[in-house]
Amino acid sequence: MKKSKYQLCFTLNGEEKSLDIDPGISALELIRDVMGLKGTKEGCGIGECGACTIVVDGQAVNACLLFAAQLDDRTVMTVEGLSGEADLHPIQQSFAARHAVQCGFCTPGLLMSTHALLEEMPNPSRADIVKAVAGNLCRCTGYQSIVAGIEDAAGKCRQKKIND
Ligand code: FES
Ligand code: FES
Repeated sequence: MKKSKYQLCFTLNGEEKSLDIDPGISALELIRDVMGLKGTKEGCGIGECGACTIVVDGQAVNACLLFAAQLDDRTVMTVEGLSGEADLHPIQQSFAARHAVQCGFCTPGLLMSTHALLEEMPNPSRADIVKAVAGNLCRCTGYQSIVAGIEDAAGKCRQKKIND
């Protein structure tokens, strides 16, 4: 018997999308396998590692824990939506400058958690930062450089808002 499809309409990285999907797929499968955006990583698949973090209506969420259908009418950002054509986003620049990237597997998720944090809280304390990325596991860096990168990014993003 032919499976019925679900018509999904959502905004992905600033572009409106409308497509028929299998109703059982996760948001992570949608992003990686259907939309072809491989920046969002699959680590644990059970909400433990944060590698799959995306931003949905301004909130950082684990894409592996959502059905794709739950993105209906939502605004979604993945790491591909962060930078412009030519330049890295200030958050990416800060991660690079503070050596917050080693193997890079956790990095897209961390960038998205950071983006959601700084949109909501432009001047976060160190405790706010630690809390915001508590769900993003990194096996390489020991976290100090990540926190330093986010502090640096907060300053850069505030300055960018003043200049824009
Ligand atoms: S892959 Fe989603 S939290 Fe690990
Ligand atoms: S840089 Fe390797 S897991 Fe974080």
